[in-house]
Amino acid sequence: MIFNKGELFCGPGGLSLGAKMAEIISPDGEIFKVQHRWANDYDSEACRTFRHNICPDDPDSVIEGDVREIDIDSLPSIDAFSFGFPCNDYSNVGEKKGINGDFGPLYTYGVKVLNAHKPLWFIAENVGGLESANEGETFIKILSDLEKTGYNLTPHLYKFHEYGVPQARQRIIIVGIRKDLGLEYKVPAPTHGPENYVTSRQALEDVPIPLDAPNQEYTKHQAKVIEMLTHIPPGENAWYQGLPEHLRLNVKGTKISQIYKRLHPDRPAYTVTGSGGGGTHMYHYDSPRALTNRERARIQTFPDTYEFLGGKEAVRKQIGMAVPPLGAKIIVEAILKTFAGIPYNFVDAHWTFDDSIANPLLKLK
Ligand SMILES: C[S@@+](CC[C@H](N)C(=O)[O-])C[C@H]1O[C@@H](n2cnc3c(N)ncnc32)[C@H](O)[C@@H]1O
Repeated sequence: MIFNKGELFCGPGGLSLGAKMAEIISPDGEIFKVQHRWANDYDSEACRTFRHNICPDDPDSVIEGDVREIDIDSLPSIDAFSFGFPCNDYSNVGEKKGINGDFGPLYTYGVKVLNAHKPLWFIAENVGGLESANEGETFIKILSDLEKTGYNLTPHLYKFHEYGVPQARQRIIIVGIRKDLGLEYKVPAPTHGPENYVTSRQALEDVPIPLDAPNQEYTKHQAKVIEMLTHIPPGENAWYQGLPEHLRLNVKGTKISQIYKRLHPDRPAYTVTGSGGGGTHMYHYDSPRALTNRERARIQTFPDTYEFLGGKEAVRKQIGMAVPPLGAKIIVEAILKTFAGIPYNFVDAHWTFDDSIANPLLKLK
């Protein structure tokens, strides 16, 4: 069975690459896989990267534009849908037109796709902080709106380093399967623990980065930054006590722990991010320098052949906001196994959600 997939907020294609890599063969020899059908994002360079890598033969299937302006009903039909919706502030939903307003919260455009196209399954992705936004009301509202479209939901906080990603990255992923199908998705059991986490050194060195790999430009640092990094041991940051006085940052207030933080070679990396100024570019464990975009892409599990298009900062942003393709592949393969009737090891989801009871969201972990 081939699932034709649509995606909103597609970014550079981390989730789509994971879906493209997923493939299951049922005991009677049937192939279960996902095929890109259409995608949308308003970031022109992310769209170029997506077209270049995911659908070079069908560039028009990537619609560049604001999701609030696209005609969702006229998009081609799909069997699967994914959307890593931006987490904006939902606090004033009541004052606006709510979920039907043109400028409603962006997740509502995912709800519109579900209502219009009724795919068999979907994946929604967001940051872990979604759980506590607006005292938890936002998360329940989103789950409730998604469930009302006719899907059984499995919301879970995935810790990607527990699935072989060389990075401590946590994301809420909601898998929805259409209720009438009578199938139950289970969260795939972690494959890695402290004894076999993939480390940043393994990610960057086990297979050396080819000299001609794309996105491998180095950052030019000021001499003072290089001197400071030289004094910061692996795993420490700019607030390291042993830093000589003249190299200390003169910062009052909150001291963000990722500032000039060097990776620890024997641990998964900390979370790759896509924005932020000096000091937030993720720093190498051996060399006193920021990682290159290709190294950040490795930490995010993109293959070296995945070429990001756009300027250096635009590429950093694309890489930082992507879902690690390996993590997406594992989740999509679990969905494919659910459809193929193939058992797999699973764990309890982080939450259960049942909108028909008084307190619909139950935290299990
Ligand atoms: C977290 S990223 C998605 C990353 C993607 N899931 C991946 O794995 O590569 C969110 C994306 O939403 C896009 N976006 C934000 N607001 C948008 C809007 N109003 N219309 C279309 N795209 C939007 C951003 O440009 C960004 O690429």
